Amino acid sequence: MLGQSFESVLDVGCGFGDLFGYLWGLGWRGRYLGIDLVPELLEEGRRRYGPLGARFERLDLTATDIDFHADVAVAIGVFNHRLRQDNLAFFRQMLAAMWRHTTVAVTADFLSATADRRRDDLFYAPVGEVVQAGLALSKRVMLHHGYMPFEFNLTVWHDDSFTVEVPVFKPYLKYVVRDGS
Ligand SMILES: C[S@@+](CC[C@H](N)C(=O)[O-])C[C@H]1O[C@@H](n2cnc3c(N)ncnc32)[C@H](O)[C@@H]1O
Repeated sequence: MLGQSFESVLDVGCGFGDLFGYLWGLGWRGRYLGIDLVPELLEEGRRRYGPLGARFERLDLTATDIDFHADVAVAIGVFNHRLRQDNLAFFRQMLAAMWRHTTVAVTADFLSATADRRRDDLFYAPVGEVVQAGLALSKRVMLHHGYMPFEFNLTVWHDDSFTVEVPVFKPYLKYVVRDGS
């Protein structure tokens, strides 16, 4: 969804930090902070990727703001488990926190409410509510429910500016054919 056109990443619920390993393998060389609640996972992340420059911290972004701003925040697999608290409320809180700590975009994946076979311990997100949460932040939102039957991704960009004369978002200006040009 985001390619590699960003220089810094906040990986929320990073686990072992394998997102960093993936990006590194693609040749990406930016600033990376992985945060998680589980010390053992962070320790393993530090062991694997610390020597390459990745940083890891134990914290819950919904409870504590950090002095780290990134181009993008990513949350992969973080919203999949059913919580004792309201799952959607947790997602909305986390989305708001990711938004505060980024300048370009936030992206997250979900198990989808379209799933026909379900486990009691998992949370199947209502697609409409998730996209509404994104649209509350920005007009520039992409919902991708086209790569797996029962999962989807939401990406929300900060810059949703456009002009009245040419009402498309900036990355699409190159496709606009202007009269006389
Ligand atoms: C399914 S794992 C995914 C790990 C990693 N993102 C990946 O794709 O390999 C979800 C992770 O989210 C973390 N997590 C859940 N709630 C969190 C929270 N409030 N703050 C930070 N991390 C959280 C869990 O500890 C777990 O490591």
